[in-house]
Amino acid sequence: MWIFGYGSLIWKPNFEFVDAQTGFIRGYARRFWQGSTDHRGVPGNPGRVVTLVRSHDEVTWGTAFRLDVREDDDVLDLLDIREQGGYERFYEAVYNDAGLVTFKALVYVATPANPEYLGPAPAQAIARQILSSRGPSGDNLEYLLNLHKALQHQGIKDNHILELVEAAEQQTV
Ligand code: BEZ
Repeated sequence: MWIFGYGSLIWKPNFEFVDAQTGFIRGYARRFWQGSTDHRGVPGNPGRVVTLVRSHDEVTWGTAFRLDVREDDDVLDLLDIREQGGYERFYEAVYNDAGLVTFKALVYVATPANPEYLGPAPAQAIARQILSSRGPSGDNLEYLLNLHKALQHQGIKDNHILELVEAAEQQTV
């Protein structure tokens, strides 16, 4: 089976995989709209991590990983997100750079229904929150920069991420 990663999975997949391919899914936009009180923030001072929001005309590029497993439950355990309420699983068609469907993949999306969801905010405010947050997994800024570098490495341009990196740079000079 395949899992499509659009966030930390791109640079830090925490499972064994037998293949990895760059591709995109349709109808979603990557946004720093999910709160994190257990990885990149703490309760009372949540960091921000990416989730996907429905957006009819947009696509999200990421990395699809092929796993040598069949049971969805195994994958949930592997991903260690069972306890993180609010992640919903979708099966989405993954397209290659020629715009052709290659396979369907499981995608984990933190929906607005989950208690940690923060939603939209101006780029400057999101950058400020990222700069002032850290948690057990490290600085929230490191998460943003790791994602930025991993996307750049794969030749993926994401205007939302670029805007946040720029805003964070402006606030640190
Ligand atoms: C992702 O990178 O796709 C991802 C990471 C953590 C939880 C869900 C999805």
